[in-house]
Amino acid sequence: MRYLTFALCKGRLAKKTLALLERLGITCEEMKDPNSRKLIFVNEELKLKFFLAKGPDVPTYVEYGAADIGVVGKDILVEEGKKVHEVLDLGFGACKMCVCGPKEAKELLLHHELIRVATKYPAIAKDYFYNKKHQTVEIIKLNGSIELAPIVGLSEVIVDIVETGSTLRENGLAVLEEVCPLSARMVVNPVSMRMENDRIKELVTGLREILKEDAR
Ligand code: PRP
Repeated sequence: MRYLTFALCKGRLAKKTLALLERLGITCEEMKDPNSRKLIFVNEELKLKFFLAKGPDVPTYVEYGAADIGVVGKDILVEEGKKVHEVLDLGFGACKMCVCGPKEAKELLLHHELIRVATKYPAIAKDYFYNKKHQTVEIIKLNGSIELAPIVGLSEVIVDIVETGSTLRENGLAVLEEVCPLSARMVVNPVSMRMENDRIKELVTGLREILKEDAR
């Protein structure tokens, strides 16, 4: 039996994914050591490997088959547009992609004005404004603290993730329009999907059952 390799996003998503897998009896003890600098972890018994990667790199590992399975936010999945199969919505990491800005900026979204949109997600922003709203905008790519952009006058609005809404509130901004709901997704390499169909199907079915029970 060959190893099945999982690529997980460093941080909260990885922790939640591992907790979910544990409920299926899939554990990786060596991954729990907080002092470890190891990058790849093995469960010899189940012939599984796990590694942690930066979120936007997870779909890349899965597309190339360096990982068979990945867990990543839908935001990254849409933005990266890699050729992977999305097999399961894991439900956690739930938040929304939104157009945000000062309340006065709502007006600018109604009249198709040429505005500047700052975002970490240029592909999502472009698709939303060009294909859904048919509004021509200038998209400015940033790498973090996106809420700063309308405050300091870099852009009129932003396209960003809203979870609790507290970053917006504390900075005098609001949700102006909702783009799409987001959550963690399990993705599979298309070749692995065929070659390891039985093992992957069993895993996905098991996880789906647990998620169903939790929803009851
Ligand atoms: C994300 C997102 C928002 C914030 C939303 O930022 O970009 O800034 O969380 O969360 P809230 O609605 O609960 O306040 P993140 O913490 O990932 O950092 P970033 O600035 O690097 O994007």
